[in-house]
Amino acid sequence: MFNFNKLLALVLAVPFVVAAPGKRALPAICQRLEPVAADLLENLFGGECGDSAHGALRLIFHDAIGISPIVGGGGADGSIVTFNATELTFEANDGLDDVIADVGPFFLKHQDVITSGDFVQLAGALSLAACPGAPRVQFFAGREPPKAPSPNFLVPEPFNTTDQIIERFAQVGFEPHEIVALLSSHSIAGADTVDPTIPGTPFDTTPSVYDTNIFIDVLLKGTLFPGTAGNQGELMTAVNGTLRLQSDFEIAHDPRTACTWQEFATNQPLMASKFGPAVLKLSFLGQDPERLTDCSELIPQPPALKDVPEFPPGQFLSDIQASCDVARFPDLPTQPGPPLDVAPIPQADSDDEDDS
Ligand SMILES: *[C@@H]1O[C@H](CO)[C@@H](O)[C@H](O)[C@H]1NC(C)=O
Ligand SMILES: *[C@@H]1O[C@H](CO)[C@@H](O)[C@H](O)[C@H]1NC(C)=O
Ligand SMILES: *[C@@H]1O[C@H](CO)[C@@H](O)[C@H](O)[C@H]1NC(C)=O
Repeated sequence: MFNFNKLLALVLAVPFVVAAPGKRALPAICQRLEPVAADLLENLFGGECGDSAHGALRLIFHDAIGISPIVGGGGADGSIVTFNATELTFEANDGLDDVIADVGPFFLKHQDVITSGDFVQLAGALSLAACPGAPRVQFFAGREPPKAPSPNFLVPEPFNTTDQIIERFAQVGFEPHEIVALLSSHSIAGADTVDPTIPGTPFDTTPSVYDTNIFIDVLLKGTLFPGTAGNQGELMTAVNGTLRLQSDFEIAHDPRTACTWQEFATNQPLMASKFGPAVLKLSFLGQDPERLTDCSELIPQPPALKDVPEFPPGQFLSDIQASCDVARFPDLPTQPGPPLDVAPIPQADSDDEDDS
């Protein structure tokens, strides 16, 4: 009798030399990074859109923005990892010591096959894999090792003015609407050190889902501080347990960015579609894209999300402080139930680890 199982076993045993029709063979540099990607997905992120994922995503930005036509810097070069001893002393990189402690060992483990610049981008792109609604961002490999630490004062801080932030991004070729696109990362993020008494405080009500809540929540009238008052860069928030950055509030209300902000509040697919290209652009800062290799096949498609924009419990259209002057903020349903006390994001760094 025809042994189908045996045939199948034979087929599976044949080394995969010919690419499936319609699929190209993976370039050698990408193949070398496959085990790194698998290790990160399994052992760093563990299938969760949690603290490790948020940290890896934040690292992309803090590494890449470290370049300026005036004072130099290498951009998306991995300097924040390799020269962490210098860059972690910058005030704007507060809290990244935990991220380097969490993510860094995976770089050191694989540094024979990946540079720190590629590592930061790969980890950041993979960090979205378990975040429902997130776009699949592209990943290009081939960065040289970084030459020097980034100069200080290039990473915008939550207390910087919108003028300063827009000017900083303009220096590296980003338009105001692209800043809003990048800020959609705050949908899956939180603050550890803005109010140091409450590490892991999320920016919106659902920090493990890449949804539009950040763009709704920040437009609601602020009424409380989730921890202590008087922190630099923090304003009152509308939902207990969430932390509002001053820069998010100001960008939400600045005439140059308010309409993009409002548009994202009720259009999750739009928010997602603008994020991927903006992150890719960050990943090319200081790099010649022509000399990099597209390894986007290494990045899984994040789970889909059916987003229903809603006001949080107890909040209504009358609580919205809109600033877009060409479109009214639409009325939305209010989530049922009592006002939320949003829980902190469980922290990845355990107490027995050395965070220094
Ligand atoms: C952080 O910097 C220290 C000191 O330069 C270095 O020994 C260490 O390898 C760096 N960490 C990573 C993850 O590269
Ligand atoms: C943010 O503000 C500080 C203090 O005013 C300033 O030194 C720094 O240059 C500002 N950063 C940017 C990116 O403009
Ligand atoms: C916010 O939530 C915390 C933790 O659940 C709770 O202790 C506190 O009373 C809440 N504050 C307000 C203003 O509801």
